[in-house]
Amino acid sequence: MSNEIAAKTPLTQLSAWKALAAHAEELRGQHLRELFAADPERGTKFRLEAEGIYLDYAKNRITAKTLELLLKLAEESGLRERIDAMFRGEKINITEDRAVLHVALRAPKGATIKVDGENVVPAVHEVLDRMAAFAERVRNGEWKGFTGKPIKNVINVGIGGSDLGPVMAYEALKHYSRRDMNFRFVSNVDGTDFAEATQDLAADETLFIISSKTFTTLETMTNAHTARKWALESLKDEKAIAKHFVAVSTNEKEVTKFGIDTANMFGFWDWVGGRYSMDSAIGLSTMLAVGPENFRRLLAGFHAMDEHFRTAAFDKNLPVILGLLSVWYNDFFDAQTVAILPYEQYLKRFPAYLQQLTMESNGKHVTLSGATVDYQTGPVYWGEPGTNGQHSFYQLIHQGTKLIPCDFIGFAKTLNPLGNHHDLLMANVFAQSEALAFGKTAEEVKAEGVPEWLVPHKVFEGNRPSNTLLLKELTPEALGKLIALYEHIVFTQGVVWQVNSFDQWGVELGKVLAKKIAGELEGDAELKHDSSTNTLITRYKELRG
Ligand code: F6P
Repeated sequence: MSNEIAAKTPLTQLSAWKALAAHAEELRGQHLRELFAADPERGTKFRLEAEGIYLDYAKNRITAKTLELLLKLAEESGLRERIDAMFRGEKINITEDRAVLHVALRAPKGATIKVDGENVVPAVHEVLDRMAAFAERVRNGEWKGFTGKPIKNVINVGIGGSDLGPVMAYEALKHYSRRDMNFRFVSNVDGTDFAEATQDLAADETLFIISSKTFTTLETMTNAHTARKWALESLKDEKAIAKHFVAVSTNEKEVTKFGIDTANMFGFWDWVGGRYSMDSAIGLSTMLAVGPENFRRLLAGFHAMDEHFRTAAFDKNLPVILGLLSVWYNDFFDAQTVAILPYEQYLKRFPAYLQQLTMESNGKHVTLSGATVDYQTGPVYWGEPGTNGQHSFYQLIHQGTKLIPCDFIGFAKTLNPLGNHHDLLMANVFAQSEALAFGKTAEEVKAEGVPEWLVPHKVFEGNRPSNTLLLKELTPEALGKLIALYEHIVFTQGVVWQVNSFDQWGVELGKVLAKKIAGELEGDAELKHDSSTNTLITRYKELRG
């Protein structure tokens, strides 16, 4: 591996890390009010604009020295080498011996990115072209269902990365989508998910996209078999499957075994991680909803951010700066979580999407060399769109005992102009970050005539950090840039924390045990778990009858 130096020198031994630890002590007592008072130009210094994203990071508990040390940490961690290694197609996912090349999914035709000596870009475009031809046929009614009717309903069946990206993108790009078609998403093995998604649909107008990288995931396969049964109950002929089922997978053998013709299969590759796959064929439902042209605009946005990440100097690099700032709070200010607060209703599923991206990637406690870390790694990501969150959990962010760095995301133009709604929405973005940073002192509260006993309750400490990301408009390109921005933030964090951001062994144990227990729920075999699990299973069976 090319980051051998970073992997060999433990993070806490790096000189930049030690300097940051000492520097954090100096800064801990300082208030953002003081930092802004000391430098009236701060708002124009700690800002960055690239690829149509304006980032204000002035409301962070940092000085020029903090930034200098964080950038030094990036260098000492070997970030430059690791970025280059990823883009070169090196097998940086060492525990699975795989390259990590979601960036190849959005590389333009004619680009060269090699895995094991073979340029993968032509194959990427071949699949994209097949997807586009299929999507056009479905969208213009040329593709007919078994009874001759055009497809009106599309149901994506998948889970994790084979669901969260498609759902998020469908919601985010609804403005650009076909309103005369229904798009639904079934992920949960809870039968309610399938039942509710299909209860008002006719099978002869419905297309299922079975999306699974491995085509072995319990939830997806269970739902896929249920979908097959549901379709056949009404269409009553095995030949109907070819008209109503397509597959997106890397596993041709399992797709064939399920009964889907590989002519109706759209492939991708083992160098695409599930949570990085929404711009592969996993995006087929997105393409059906918004059309091939808008899908290509989405990919162009991803690619623009990839190029920015790959080429921009670190001090002008959006993902690098944001990744380093999150390390700063996570490791030196005990911040356990990060709030993602999009002030854009169409981005309502963006925080949920980022949960898998960030937490499945950096929820690790051993380094690449297998050592247990003695520092904090991935924080908990969570969030809701504004302004709804303000009337729910913001109280804790403003006056609670926990430090929660926030990412505000807003757009200058709305896709749905309605009176003064949009200015009101954006006024709230600016107001919240201002209130979090500067708060309200006891003196200010008293000056309002508030009785002494009530003053402490009305004081806002402030000094709560936030970033604000401002984009012009929610276009497919803008969405691609935003997603790639967070992908590369995760990459930056992972390199600093020296973890493998691209495996997910932590989900395996639960899967294995669930399979075992599913068998036990069917029969009367003796239970050999711990006493709690044994008793729970027994009581479940009694209640179930
Ligand atoms: O939860 C583990 C996981 O492997 C995710 O990483 C992945 O996105 C999801 O399951 C679904 O996997 P598949 O696409 O293979 O069905």
